[in-house]
Amino acid sequence: MNPKQNFDVSHIRKDFPILSQKIHGHSLAFLDNAASSQQPIKVTQAVKDYHEQDHANVHRGVHHLSHKATDAYEAARDKIAKFINTSSSKEIVFTSGTTEAINLLAATMESKIVAGDEILITHMEHHSNIVPWYRLCEKTKASLIVAPINQKGELILEEMIDLISNKTRLVACSHVSNALGTINPVEEIINAAHKRGVPVLIDGAQAIPHQSIDVNELDCDFYVFSGHKMCAPTGTGVFYAKEHILKEMPPWQGGGEMILSVSFDEIIYNDLPYRFEAGTPNISGVVGLGAAVDYLEDIGMDKIASYEKNLLNYLTESLGKAPGIRLIGTAENRAGVQSFTMEGAHPHDLGTVLDHQGVAIRTGHHCAMPVMEFFNVPGTARASLSFYNVESEIDQLIEGLSVARDMFL
Ligand code: ALA
Repeated sequence: MNPKQNFDVSHIRKDFPILSQKIHGHSLAFLDNAASSQQPIKVTQAVKDYHEQDHANVHRGVHHLSHKATDAYEAARDKIAKFINTSSSKEIVFTSGTTEAINLLAATMESKIVAGDEILITHMEHHSNIVPWYRLCEKTKASLIVAPINQKGELILEEMIDLISNKTRLVACSHVSNALGTINPVEEIINAAHKRGVPVLIDGAQAIPHQSIDVNELDCDFYVFSGHKMCAPTGTGVFYAKEHILKEMPPWQGGGEMILSVSFDEIIYNDLPYRFEAGTPNISGVVGLGAAVDYLEDIGMDKIASYEKNLLNYLTESLGKAPGIRLIGTAENRAGVQSFTMEGAHPHDLGTVLDHQGVAIRTGHHCAMPVMEFFNVPGTARASLSFYNVESEIDQLIEGLSVARDMFL
C-alpha cells in the first residue's frame, strides 16, 4: 500500500527535507504552518523542472516552450478546479494570494456600492478581510458591520444572521480563523445570506490546508485562498467566483493577457478567467501549486483532516496542562491552530526562548488586531499544525515552555 495513503507520517516527513535540520542545536519543531507551510520535494522539483525545461511566457507564443508553459499553467488551473469542485475551470482566477483575491473583489464592487449600503464581516477576520472592506466603505460611505464573537472565540451566529439586512451587499467571513483556529459555520451563514439575496465571500486561507473544500456544495459565491499555506510556493493564490458573477464583474487591473483587442477607441476584454489576470502571471509558482494539489490528493484531504484533529487535541490538552498558560480560542470546532499566552511573559520573548529550543511558533497579533483587543492581550503565541507534524514536536514545545517559565517567573 502507498505509505502516503496509509498515512505513515514518518514516510511523509521524508518528503520535507527542511524538517530534518537542527536549529540552535535542537531538532526543528516547525509549528508555524498557519503563516506558511513547507513544500515537499514533489513541489520544489516541479518548479525546478519547469525552470530548467519548460519556461517561456504563457498564452502568447506559437513556439514549443510557450505551449509547454501554457499547458503546465492551465493544467494547474484544472487541478485546482477539481480540488475545490468548481463547475468549470473558468471560475478559477490566479492571484498572488488571498489578500490580492479579496482586494480584487473589493475593487470590482466599488462602482455598485452606494452610501448606506453595508458590508458584513466578523470580529475574527484577518486584516486582509477587514482593510479592503474598510477602505471600500470609506470611499463609498457604506458601513462596515461586524458580527460579534464570544469568549471561546466562536461567532455568535444568531446575531450575525440578524445583521444581514436588505442593505447588506456582501458577507465576507473566514472559514477558519488564523488567530483562533475557529471553524465557522459557513454553510449556515451562506444559507442565511442567500435567503436575503446577499452574496458571500469565504476567506479559505486557513481552511484549505486542513480539510477538503467543495465550493459547489458550500454554494458560496466567492472562495479565496493562498498557495503557500497548502505546500505550494509563495506568491500564488486563487480567487474562485461563480461563473455568472465573474461574467458581470468589471475587469480589475488593466494590461496584457486581460484583453482580446485594444485600439485607442475601444478595448475588448478577454474571456474568463483571463480577463482578471493582467500581466505575466507567477507561472512557476502556479506549476508548483498544481504539484501541491497532486501531492495533497495523493495523501487524501480526509486523512489529513482526521490526523490533524487528533494532533490538535493533543496540542490543546498539552498546553492546557502546562502551568501558567492561558488558551486563547477554545471553540468546539477548530482546525490547525492553538493560540495561548504565558503569565508574566511577553509573547515575543516567549517566541525567542522557544526558537532557542528549536521550536518555531508565531507571536504577535497575527494580523488580527481586533481579536487581540477582544481578548485584551497585546498578542498571543500561536502554535499551528500541518499533517507532517508529530506529537514529539508538541512535547518539545511544552518542554520549551517550561524553560521559558523558569526564566520569566
Ligand atoms: N496570515 C498569516 C498568519 O496568520 C501570515 O500568520
